Amino acid sequence: MKLPQTLRGGAARPWIVLGLSSVFLGSAALMRPTHAAPAEQDTAKLNRDLERSVGKLFTKYCADCHEGSDAPGGFAVDGLDSVNDVLANKDGYHKAAAMIRTSIMPPDGMPMPDRKEVLQMVEWLEAAIISNRELVDPGRVTIRRLNNFEYANTVRDLLFVEAKSTAGFPADSVGHGFDNIGDVLSLSPLLLEKLLDSAEAIAEEAIVVSSYTEEVYDAGQMTVEGAANLREDFVHFYSRGTAAVVHEFKEPGSYRVKLRAWGQQAGPEACKAAVQVGSGRPVVLTVGATRDKVGEYEFPIEIVKPAKVPIRAEFTNDYYNQQANKDRNLAIETIEILGPFGRSKNLPKSHRSIIYSNPIAGQEIQSARPQITRFASRAFRRPATSGEVDRLSLIFEAGMFLRASSTVSNSIRSQRQAQRASTLTDGSSPPDSPTSSGQPCRIRSLLIWPSQAS
Ligand code: HEC
Repeated sequence: MKLPQTLRGGAARPWIVLGLSSVFLGSAALMRPTHAAPAEQDTAKLNRDLERSVGKLFTKYCADCHEGSDAPGGFAVDGLDSVNDVLANKDGYHKAAAMIRTSIMPPDGMPMPDRKEVLQMVEWLEAAIISNRELVDPGRVTIRRLNNFEYANTVRDLLFVEAKSTAGFPADSVGHGFDNIGDVLSLSPLLLEKLLDSAEAIAEEAIVVSSYTEEVYDAGQMTVEGAANLREDFVHFYSRGTAAVVHEFKEPGSYRVKLRAWGQQAGPEACKAAVQVGSGRPVVLTVGATRDKVGEYEFPIEIVKPAKVPIRAEFTNDYYNQQANKDRNLAIETIEILGPFGRSKNLPKSHRSIIYSNPIAGQEIQSARPQITRFASRAFRRPATSGEVDRLSLIFEAGMFLRASSTVSNSIRSQRQAQRASTLTDGSSPPDSPTSSGQPCRIRSLLIWPSQAS
């Protein structure tokens, strides 16, 4: 049993849905403070740097004017002996850093620090200003969700789908005149519901699920005419006759017609079956197989529009030699229609960008991996790690399992996948949770750093 359709569609959807949805499962890990070096060490080093080099730059470029109690703007550098002096006039030095960086200070016409010196002063000032953690404690940081506009833009950039679905979203609250303030962008149950629905709709629009099927008609389903009759599990042609089925092709594309057949071989040539699809030219198959080793014979067909098409197989070269007691008869066990194959020509860009190559039958999971990696890396805006891809692949496998389990003939494979899928569902942490990697939720990063408005 092959499952090429899974990669083309169905199984890929769940992880997109999951990815889009997971933005709302807030995580404290995301908000870990970033600077963590011991403050005392910082200060000692900064003081050393001031004494050795940076202090000289302030003296050289600023002290001419910014000295004493009547220094311009009340800003004087002659008292600058340590980090503490910066902290005592944090606002003044903050301004100074900005002015040096933008070359406003020193004023035009004065000796100018070169680029390296500018950086030296600015970086030193900035480090000194934040060296006192108490002063820079940012307090609580709100996890900010995307507003509706950002969400739509992000979906567009990532999936090439216009998220019309935000139309039904509750309007974003406005704070201080802006609609992107984390503190007021709450997540109501209604919005969460809408977002989950939207994720489903977007996944459906982004990925076209192929209707690939393998339809097997057995002998009992065939309409038999002429010198033929139904035996146990095959149609037996004792002379010229036909066996026909009608197949509904639901979409245009390339298909294959496959016969499982064998013959009672006799006479100068092997059995021949002429197979006619609709009103097309019959394709003559030479059925050389015998009952102990049934053969499979197939040929490709192109279907241009959806239709119900009769497929007729005819035994054309009956042979009977009474004297020698030689009789050539044909047996057809099944007529199978496989397809459509290959990629439809009009797949949307979203689909092509996510699923950029067809899977190799039997190796869907391996084929999916690089595609999952690429998608995840785009969503995270950095290369996805193999651990992350492992977890996403598991979701893909679970999707494959769900599809496969609806097909009876797939028991062995299903079992294996069921085991894997159960590790996915039984595991205490969801595949994308911060605890499972010790890292902030990656898939969310894109939805937290929104796309630019177009
Ligand atoms: C040629 C004299 C001169 C030099 C050199 C000079 N400044 Fe100034 N600076 C001024 C004057 C004059 C003002 C007041 C401008 C105003 O108020 O419009 C000023 C204003 C400032 C202010 C704003 C103070 C406030 O709160 O309004 C800062 C900060 C400052 N300078 C930093 C520096 C630094 C740092 C340097 C050296 C890299 C420097 N300046 C070099 C003359 C100078």
